[in-house]
Amino acid sequence: MKVGFLQFNPTFGDKTKNYRAVEELLKNVVADIVVIPELFNTGYTFLNEKELIDLAEPAGGETYEFMHRLAQEKNCALAYGFAEKAEDIHHNSMSFVTTRGLVATYRKSHLFFEEKFLFQPGDTGFDVFEYGGVKFGMLICWDWIYPEAMRTLALRGAQVILHAANLVTPYCPDAMKTRAIENRVFIITADRAGDEIRGEKDFHFIGKSQVVAPNGGILVRAGEETCVKISEIDPSFALNKKMNEHNDLFADRRAELYFE
Ligand code: ACM
Repeated sequence: MKVGFLQFNPTFGDKTKNYRAVEELLKNVVADIVVIPELFNTGYTFLNEKELIDLAEPAGGETYEFMHRLAQEKNCALAYGFAEKAEDIHHNSMSFVTTRGLVATYRKSHLFFEEKFLFQPGDTGFDVFEYGGVKFGMLICWDWIYPEAMRTLALRGAQVILHAANLVTPYCPDAMKTRAIENRVFIITADRAGDEIRGEKDFHFIGKSQVVAPNGGILVRAGEETCVKISEIDPSFALNKKMNEHNDLFADRRAELYFE
């Protein structure tokens, strides 16, 4: 299975420009699944609720329509972050779209910094879905720092974690090696890169999108450049939780001793 990420620097508030950028970057790409960053269509730095209200859309809205058409054109599944309007509240969300349409939408559970003033914490939980005979789970950016999030997906059978991000702290790319090892899963992080300066706010996004293997090996990692990178993976490796002939990571868990 050919999987990877698209890394770029979206322009705040210009969905059409961001769609065109994604389309252009994917033009010569051949892949089965590409992950595209958190809030790729709108940008990250909403200065107030009005900006979010103006840009947010339902999971089946115009960004979905664009992604579905692109998935059909490229014969490739796409996972992407967007600002979701759900009735009169908003979520920082991520959808997985195939040639046949919308498969799943995940709402970010752990909101970072001032996202808390704009978005509601996600209510979807950590569900696993199947595509092409492989089980997938989705996480958004800051969710990475809660090991419980990925553990829940892995215990539910996820073999590949699709992680859309807008990383501003330096820890995630290396921490994901541990997440991959402790859960024996593949992890694809699609981060944005560059700076977003709006009003008094000034964010630098670290890039370093990557594909990590269940043994913690980094199959491919970007710097801060705009790029698409694809890796060939065999998701069946993630089904085997044996570390050696006497240790099975999941079978050896002592759930009765753990807090909660
Ligand atoms: C983040 O959760 N966007 C840092």
